[in-house]
Amino acid sequence: MVYHISNLEFGPEVGVGAPRSDAEVVTAWLDCIASMVDDLRELRLIDGATARTVESDSRSIDGLISKESVDAVITSPPYPNEKDYTRTTRLESVLLGFVQSKENLRTVKRGLMRSNTRNVYVGDMDDRWVVGHESIQRIASAIESRRIELGKTSGFERLYAKVTKLYFGGMARHLQSLQRVLRPGAMLAYVVGDQASYLRVKIPTGQILVEIAESLGYSCVGIDLFRTRLATATREQLREEVVVLQWRKRR
Ligand SMILES: C[S@@+](CC[C@H](N)C(=O)[O-])C[C@H]1O[C@@H](n2cnc3c(N)ncnc32)[C@H](O)[C@@H]1O
Repeated sequence: MVYHISNLEFGPEVGVGAPRSDAEVVTAWLDCIASMVDDLRELRLIDGATARTVESDSRSIDGLISKESVDAVITSPPYPNEKDYTRTTRLESVLLGFVQSKENLRTVKRGLMRSNTRNVYVGDMDDRWVVGHESIQRIASAIESRRIELGKTSGFERLYAKVTKLYFGGMARHLQSLQRVLRPGAMLAYVVGDQASYLRVKIPTGQILVEIAESLGYSCVGIDLFRTRLATATREQLREEVVVLQWRKRR
């Protein structure tokens, strides 16, 4: 639907292009089904594990998964990059009935990590988790000073510093809520990218994530470079990395 039939464009932000007068629907659908069938045929040969999907907020998973039952976490969480993830998947969310009204959409957004100024709400308090975290506070102050220096006064721009603190506070909450469900020795991998979306102030996401994790009793096994990306505004290479952690301590 999204890639073959709709008029959505990804550049990489999602946009709406000119309506199409026609599109090949059945062939695109059939190709996807064929690829799923191929996958299933291949997977039949593997002695797999059972899977369970939990629709929830990763910042409060401790009540949803049994205590000390998780050996590994591998995830690509949001980055503080001004991306509204509900926009990326809006069409399928509506067509599949996950979002039926504006109120519905707001509920979904509230359950997400704060990673863009469009999902910051009055009463958000994740920033409290990083009040004493020096490098996050320094970056947030640098963003706010740059905003004032450049005379930027829009509602969104005023929220840049706040959303940065809310983002890392949310990640801290997530890592804390995981502590109870992880088995000692569990390994974790987080794909995250450095950012410079907020008035070009560089946010070394992976490095800060390690600082937060270490303060919560995790050890950093390594930060593997996954790829680099050219920041269009600053022409600087930004790192995308896999932060590998290990859970050692029980609190
Ligand atoms: C960088 S994207 C990863 C997308 C994923 N790899 C995929 O292919 O669909 C981050 C994802 O985290 C989800 N997300 C944001 N906040 C979350 C939360 N509190 N709990 C669980 N997932 C969340 C977003 O909706 C988004 O789909």
